[in-house]
Amino acid sequence: VVVGDEVLGEVAASLAGRARVALVHPVALRGAAGLLAEEVRERTGAAVHPLEVPDGEAAKQLARAEECWDALGRAGFTRDDAMVGFGGGTVTDLAGFVAACWLRGVDVVQVPTTLLGMVDAAVGGKTGIDTPAGKNLVGAFHQPVAVVCDLAMLRTLPAEEFAAGLAEVVKTGFIADPGILALLEADPSGRAETRQLVERSVGVKAEVVSADPREAGRREILNYGHTLGHAIERVEDYTWRHGAAVSVGLVYAAELARLAGRLDAPTAGRHRDLLERVGLPTAYRADAWPALREAMRVDKKARGARLRFVVLDGLAAPGILDDPDPAVLAAAYAEVAR
Ligand SMILES: NC(=O)c1ccc[n+]([C@@H]2O[C@H](COP(=O)([O-])OP(=O)(O)OC[C@H]3O[C@@H](n4cnc5c(N)ncnc54)[C@H](O)[C@@H]3O)[C@@H](O)[C@H]2O)c1
Repeated sequence: VVVGDEVLGEVAASLAGRARVALVHPVALRGAAGLLAEEVRERTGAAVHPLEVPDGEAAKQLARAEECWDALGRAGFTRDDAMVGFGGGTVTDLAGFVAACWLRGVDVVQVPTTLLGMVDAAVGGKTGIDTPAGKNLVGAFHQPVAVVCDLAMLRTLPAEEFAAGLAEVVKTGFIADPGILALLEADPSGRAETRQLVERSVGVKAEVVSADPREAGRREILNYGHTLGHAIERVEDYTWRHGAAVSVGLVYAAELARLAGRLDAPTAGRHRDLLERVGLPTAYRADAWPALREAMRVDKKARGARLRFVVLDGLAAPGILDDPDPAVLAAAYAEVAR
C-alpha cells in the first residue's frame, strides 16, 4: 500500500510488463481517469481500456460487472493482464469482483479516491456487488496486488464524503490505535493530518487482515459499530452514507458495552464527543428500534438467531458480546434514540 501526495505515478509502476490494462472508473472521475490511462499507456506500453461506470452504488450491479466482462472478452484479456479500480469503495468493490471472476482471477491494482476507500474498502481483499437479495451478499475475497492512495485526489471529494470516511478512522482509533483519536481531537476536520490518519488506519487494517484474511477470527473486530450501522443502512434503504450509519453504530456499541458493565463511562462518552465534533450523526429515530432489531437479526454477521456485537473492554481492547440481554440492547438504543 502506497500513501502519499501526487503518487498516481505508482499505478504505472505497479503495472510494468502488462499487455492490457482495464481501468474501471466512475463518471465523476472521467477527466482524471483519462490522464491516468494516458500515463499508464506511455510508461508501460500497455493497451489501456477505460471502463466507465455510474457514480455510487449504481456501479455495484451485476449488469455493470457483465459489461466489464464483455469488454475484457472483446479486448482479449488474459491471466497476465490487469485491472485497475480507480474510484470510491463502490468502484474498487466492483473492479475487484470483476477481476476475481475473470479467468478465475486476474490481478487488480486498487486506486481509492475517497477517504473511505483508502482506509477501508480498497484494503483487505473483500470485493462484491449488490443484488436483489441484499447489499454485498455476492462477492469474493481477492487481494489487490497493490493499493495506491493518492491524497491529492481527496481535494475534490465533497465534505460529507470525507466526513463519512472519518467514521472508519474513528473506529480504528477505538479498536486498535488511540493515537488516531488524539490526532482527530486536535483537528476534528481530519484535514491537517490526513496522511497520518490514512497510514495508521491502513496499518491497522493490513495487520488485522493479514492475520485473518477470511474473517475466521480477529478480522471480526473491524466490524465494530457495524451491527447497528448496517441495520440503519437497511432501514434507510441504503440512502444513508455507510460512514454516517457506522457513526451511530459506534455510539450504540459503546453504550451497549457500558451498560453491560464492560466499558467505563468516560471512554464510552468519548465516542459521542469525537463523532459529533467530526460532524457525524450520533442519534437515530426512536420509533425505528423494532425495525433495527429485526434487521440486526438477519445481518450476515449474526450467528443463527443470536446477536453478536464487537464491544470494547477498554481503549484498544475489543471483545465480543454474544447474545446480549434484550433489555440491555433496548436500553443502549435509548441512549442513541431521538
Ligand atoms: N470491500 C470492503 O471491505 C468495503 C469496506 C467498506 C465499504 N465498502 C463499500 O464501499 C462503498 C462506499 O464507498 P465510498 O464511500 O467510497 O462511496 P462511492 O464509491 O459511492 O463514492 C462516493 C461518491 O464520490 C465520488 N467520488 C469518488 N472519488 C472522488 C473524488 N476524488 N472527487 C470527487 N468525487 C469523487 C463517487 O463517484 C461517488 O459519487 C459501499 O458500496 C460499501 O459497501 C467496501
